Amino acid sequence: MTENNLQVLLASRPEGLPKGSDFEIKEQPIEDPAEGEVLVRLIYLSLDPAMRGWMSDRKSYVAPIGIGEVMRGLAAGEVVVSRDERFSPGDRVAGLLGWQRFATVQGKDLEKLPSGVPLTLAMGPLGMTGMSAYFGLLDIGQPKAGETVLVSGGAGAVGSVVGQIARIKGCRAVGIAGSDDKCRWLEDDLGFDATVNYKTGNLRDELKRACPNGVDIYFDNVGGEILDTALTLINRGARIVICGAISQYNATTPVPGPSNYLSLLVNRARMEGFLIFDYQDRFGAAQAELGQWIQEGKIQARSDIVEGLENAPQALLRLFDGSNTGKLLVQVGAE
Ligand SMILES: NC(=O)c1ccc[n+]([C@@H]2O[C@H](COP(=O)([O-])OP(=O)(O)OC[C@H]3O[C@@H](n4cnc5c(N)ncnc54)[C@H](OP(=O)(O)O)[C@@H]3O)[C@@H](O)[C@H]2O)c1
Repeated sequence: MTENNLQVLLASRPEGLPKGSDFEIKEQPIEDPAEGEVLVRLIYLSLDPAMRGWMSDRKSYVAPIGIGEVMRGLAAGEVVVSRDERFSPGDRVAGLLGWQRFATVQGKDLEKLPSGVPLTLAMGPLGMTGMSAYFGLLDIGQPKAGETVLVSGGAGAVGSVVGQIARIKGCRAVGIAGSDDKCRWLEDDLGFDATVNYKTGNLRDELKRACPNGVDIYFDNVGGEILDTALTLINRGARIVICGAISQYNATTPVPGPSNYLSLLVNRARMEGFLIFDYQDRFGAAQAELGQWIQEGKIQARSDIVEGLENAPQALLRLFDGSNTGKLLVQVGAE
């Protein structure tokens, strides 16, 4: 190929919020695939809060990204050259392709995407964030009709799907989000029963108003003060699903634990974390059910798309200042 590859590398480990100098944008020749490998042209790169953790050198569920390495990231794209018999040029695939225009990867690490499914859905409600909403709510939360499901980060990729599945299961869905526009979208378009803008008013009072029967499931995407406040509103036998804690990902000092945790004892409640990678063997069934709900109009998806790989470092910050609504993607190449 005559075209060069453009890559975004990790240049240094961020202190607090990542800054431009933590990344390096580099042009390189495209790597030819060896036997068993596939060359993929990226179309959409998923930006995820977890990336902030991968940039830090601390013990986690995966090794940190090395300095000078291509930023790790899930993406969807199109096969250009295949030296794996399972793939042909033109196939649409997804995998950990990284922050680059072209990825040369092992065929065994790629998922072939069904034709006819828009890539934005494959990267959103049918991708990792949809899977997190589905298994976090249904497996860990175990909702029952009539219960109240409260979800923070409600207008984000995971949270917006959590609330819609809660409605499908006959629950009262209450979303917490950071702007009135986001709250209106959740109530008017997605059918949430109530919402709370955590940036205005008294959080506890507002949550009590929105959850008059208390909280049976709290799906936590943000941690910190919102988790602590939600703990004061849980019912007996409540389930708290720890999906993430974005309010703490850029902390530069030790993060205090939730001070209201004894509410778990008083209410015989349970708080449990999960990692979506543990559910991979059940993704197919979840995608089939979510796909059905999307077709029936019971789940709506929204993507927030930033153009151009070179804008990815700046776009990542949108997750932390709340300027994304729905699934944040970077369009790396043409559809
Ligand atoms: N456990 C797993 O396997 C798994 C898998 C995928 C994702 N996750 C986690 O799920 C969570 C949501 O991920 P996502 O991809 O769906 O992101 P997202 O919700 O689409 O985007 C992040 C949102 O978090 C909110 N936020 C940012 N800083 C905040 C703060 N200090 N306090 C309260 N809210 C804040 C912002 O919305 P507002 O405008 O509402 O502030 C922002 O739009 C993250 O914690 C992520 O790490 C976990």
